[in-house]
Amino acid sequence: MKNELKKLEKAALAALEQVKSSADLDAYHTKYLGRKGELTGLLRGLKDLSPEDKKTFGKATNELKIELEGKFKMKQNEFEHAEISKSLKDEWIDLSAPGTTTKRGHIHPLYQVQEEVERIFQQMGFSVVDGPEIESEYYNFEGLNIPADHPARDMQDTFFIDKKADKDEGRLVLRTHTSPNQIRAMKKYGVPLRIIVPGRVFRNEATDASHEHTFDQVEGLMIDKDISIAHLKGVMLEFLQRLFKKEMKIRFRPGYFPFVEPGLELDMSCIFCDGKGCKVCKKTGWIEFMGCGMTHPHVLRAGGIDPDEYQGWAFGFGLTRLVMMRYGIDDIRHLTSGDLRFAEQF
Ligand code: PHE
Repeated sequence: MKNELKKLEKAALAALEQVKSSADLDAYHTKYLGRKGELTGLLRGLKDLSPEDKKTFGKATNELKIELEGKFKMKQNEFEHAEISKSLKDEWIDLSAPGTTTKRGHIHPLYQVQEEVERIFQQMGFSVVDGPEIESEYYNFEGLNIPADHPARDMQDTFFIDKKADKDEGRLVLRTHTSPNQIRAMKKYGVPLRIIVPGRVFRNEATDASHEHTFDQVEGLMIDKDISIAHLKGVMLEFLQRLFKKEMKIRFRPGYFPFVEPGLELDMSCIFCDGKGCKVCKKTGWIEFMGCGMTHPHVLRAGGIDPDEYQGWAFGFGLTRLVMMRYGIDDIRHLTSGDLRFAEQF
């Protein structure tokens, strides 16, 4: 029995040396320490010994069991450690490594200014509304008091679409101004009315640094009882001062647009020299800002409004030109060129 214990101890320790993986270790456990293992076999055999031997060998076998189980545990720990450090190594992330940056875009300068314009008018109680870029001839021209044979049509030559509009509204046309929305809004919302309509417009232009076939305008309209040019003057002065964040002056000159009567041009004091006279304002101290006037009775009627009861004013200014002025952009073509080197500067 003593020999057997020695032999088993030697064999088991040598076998443990050979264990190289946790699968080996499982097999080792089964062979030596498992329920049907060799050590358990020896322990079972103890019952056949004399009481004397049972005592001696029982103790020795138990000690061997403790020794082998201890060494087995140590081996098991070794494997566990190796596994953990391997997965730590595999899953390690270098939190200090520089990240891959995604490029963030931003709002185009045109619409940055448009948002500012909208905010200021909303603060004054105006709603922002929208209308179609493909208009009917009726809304773009006739409804606005510009009949087909009218010379004012020449100023706003544009692109026609080879298709008729709904009902009796003539051909389809890319709108030349945002003014068609005066009538659309009157019909849709009725009176009283306080709106602005920012939007893209199109004209058949020979393109150069200050002319483009596609640009943006902002239309304004206020209709109620007892509305006069004084309201227009108040609203526009307030608007320009809030936009440019300084004291401004405005003045009216006569101007012609078939859909207003009287028609006016509004000039603002030059934002570069504050009216003293400089290169930009050609020494006049004034910059032409927009067309405007009291809404023509023809237009009110087209919008279903009785001109004897209501009156109002309308204006239209070039958002594109305003943006160019504000940022000192010298060529209108940059704005819609799609060239990111331009857009990224704002
Ligand atoms: N629609 C005119 C234009 O494009 C501007 C305008 C709008 C003038 C409203 C008077 C009233 O030139």
